[in-house]
Amino acid sequence: MDPGWGGTDSTVNERGGGGETPKRNVPTLSERADEIERRQMQELGERMIGKSVLFNLANGKRIFSPRKYGVRLLMGDDSRLPPLPAKPTLLDFFRCRFDIVVQEHLLRSAALARKDGHSDKVVLACLLHDIASAGFIRADHGYWGAQLVEPYVDEDVSWAIRAHQALRFFPDASVGYEYPDLCRTMFGDDYRPGPYIVAAYMLKQRQS
Ligand SMILES: [Fe+2]
Repeated sequence: MDPGWGGTDSTVNERGGGGETPKRNVPTLSERADEIERRQMQELGERMIGKSVLFNLANGKRIFSPRKYGVRLLMGDDSRLPPLPAKPTLLDFFRCRFDIVVQEHLLRSAALARKDGHSDKVVLACLLHDIASAGFIRADHGYWGAQLVEPYVDEDVSWAIRAHQALRFFPDASVGYEYPDLCRTMFGDDYRPGPYIVAAYMLKQRQS
């Protein structure tokens, strides 16, 4: 019987037992994972994506994705994503690779900075400050984002991107900055930044 989801019609339980186990038509988790992987490989021209440990850490797993011997790894473009032009601009990354919510946040930040009459450096820093969250990695995104853009922007811009990671946790009345309600909502009232964040904040204070 075709179970309708493209997998096998299993009548045994996850441990392989039969006998007294009632018959079922519902695929097990591992069967569903295999089926998703099979479809994904078809979409990718019978190649598989070798996922990094970092990718799997997001799901609490400390593993590389298991290799399937005899199957080639995808080394070129991922056909599931919108294609980038041969010489992509920053706007192309916004359009084709970045998370839509973070895109809007970045564009709004830059627009507000421009409206308030800030310098081009500040506008650019606002446009790029969450670039790591938008397309790469969320945790400690200021440090990652600064490294991504460092070769291409003025050092004041990358400094600001790195600094916003730590400074956002510390209210500063001298510039009218209060601890954001959004941080309370996202991290909880009891959240305290780690020692490395505090150290980065202290360093920035000495530099300014
Ligand atoms: Fe941020």
